[in-house]
Amino acid sequence: MDNRAIGVFDSGLGGLTATEELSSILPDEHIIYLSDSYNFPYGEKNRERIIEMSRRDLRFLLENGVKAVFIACGTATSNALAVLKAESPVPVFGVVEPAVVEAVCLTKNGKIGLLATRASVEAGTYQRLIQEMAPEVEVTAKACPKFATMVEDGIFDKEDERVLRAVEEYLPPLKKAGVDTVILGCTHYPLLADVISEYMGADVRLISAGAAAARSLSAYLGENGLTSKNRSYGAEYYTTGSPEHFARTAELMLRRDISQFVRGVEPFDKGGDI
Ligand code: DGL
Repeated sequence: MDNRAIGVFDSGLGGLTATEELSSILPDEHIIYLSDSYNFPYGEKNRERIIEMSRRDLRFLLENGVKAVFIACGTATSNALAVLKAESPVPVFGVVEPAVVEAVCLTKNGKIGLLATRASVEAGTYQRLIQEMAPEVEVTAKACPKFATMVEDGIFDKEDERVLRAVEEYLPPLKKAGVDTVILGCTHYPLLADVISEYMGADVRLISAGAAAARSLSAYLGENGLTSKNRSYGAEYYTTGSPEHFARTAELMLRRDISQFVRGVEPFDKGGDI
């Protein structure tokens, strides 16, 4: 048993798709969630910058005494997981491997689609891992730069014209390739799952990278006697951006008001873009 909190970070609100799954499996866990909204989107930054921002996110969580760090961001996992693992005194988990394991197990026709940010697709981590686990699988990867920004702005209604236009812009290559399984490789994308599913067809399986990773993390905590007991105060949320914006968009996503648990923190690094 370990009653310390689990530290979670993302560039924005997407990681909530992972923490919701984590809390539903392990409701006694206390979660400290950091949204580095000041630096959003990570997906449009270069690798060095993503590593630097992720290091600062890690440091913030460690300063808050967490027992494990969950990178609830496909972009940070793709680019910085190995660095953070090497530098962290507590275990660090990412979203890529659990999603790949689920996809490789689920695909029947050996054709997997990957939707992710530009920095994740360019890093090639998802694709490499799929090839390592199942060399015969064909991967069709598509970067979707507008998706995370729309979700971060609270735009994910499946009737919204902007959403429909973006789906029509990004999904045709996956449909053409005949994939039967799609990894939603950015933790913001599950908010668009309905519209993606309508476009791809009901028989195409969608895998939420954040939720897959939450299941794998909870199994690890359970197997290693690291779960928490008797803690019932849920989660606290920190953002380097506007706490009001975070709480407002979180309410749209989660359909509940979490504003009393949201606090602003000074951006760790106001230094240049990209
Ligand atoms: N949620 C982040 C991810 O999973 C992406 C958003 C961003 O570009 O910062 O990749």
